[in-house]
Amino acid sequence: AQADLIAPSILSADFARLGEEVTNVLAAGADIVHFDVMDNHYVPNLTIGPLVCEALRKHGVTAPIDVHLMVKPVDRIIPDFAKAGADYITFHPEASDHIDRSLQLIRSEGCKAGLVFNPATPLSYLDYVMDKVDMILLMSVNPGFGGQSFIPATLDKLREARRRIDASGLDIRLEIDGGVKADNIAEIKAAGADTFVAGSAIFSAARSEDPNHYDSIINKM
Ligand code: DX5
Ligand code: ZN
Repeated sequence: AQADLIAPSILSADFARLGEEVTNVLAAGADIVHFDVMDNHYVPNLTIGPLVCEALRKHGVTAPIDVHLMVKPVDRIIPDFAKAGADYITFHPEASDHIDRSLQLIRSEGCKAGLVFNPATPLSYLDYVMDKVDMILLMSVNPGFGGQSFIPATLDKLREARRRIDASGLDIRLEIDGGVKADNIAEIKAAGADTFVAGSAIFSAARSEDPNHYDSIINKM
């Protein structure tokens, strides 16, 4: 078993003060930075790319950066994110023409690789590539926006993913993304997750001049 990680999603951060926001959540106890990449094609929103990842590194962020690709096609952006300082790169299998190749490409670029499952995407995509993933990310909302409600059916899916990981004996993180709050994180953890993305729960709640605000929210998680 691996230690639990809190992964603030910078989608809900103040982009005009991004470096400071990331520094503050890490100082408050967050473990990794969740970096949502949306292309207005695979998902209906447009966010940030490798330049911003590189800018966070130049700002002095040393924590792992967890790049969640919601883009199509997948492969051509992977080397750019690896060079920009990504640690994890995850993608949606529906967005890749060759899932096995994309997973191998991520590892060959020196990053940890993961698959992301939308609420209606079956875990059977893992069947033949389990040994090529370092992270399984279950979406508990439909991707594209922060601030949506946790879809309860994801709890059963987490238990199924946990069974698959334990049966494999492999070192694979199980990450959950969407609608995670201080008041549901305990049942999400009990269902098997070990890595918790939280966007609005951390940044919107702490939209305050007081950086200590982050501590109190992250400490409840
Ligand atoms: C949604 C993103 C999430 C999002 C989560 O497509 O993948 O990471 O920022 O936001 P909250 O925690 O507000 O549901
Ligand atoms: Zn995400």
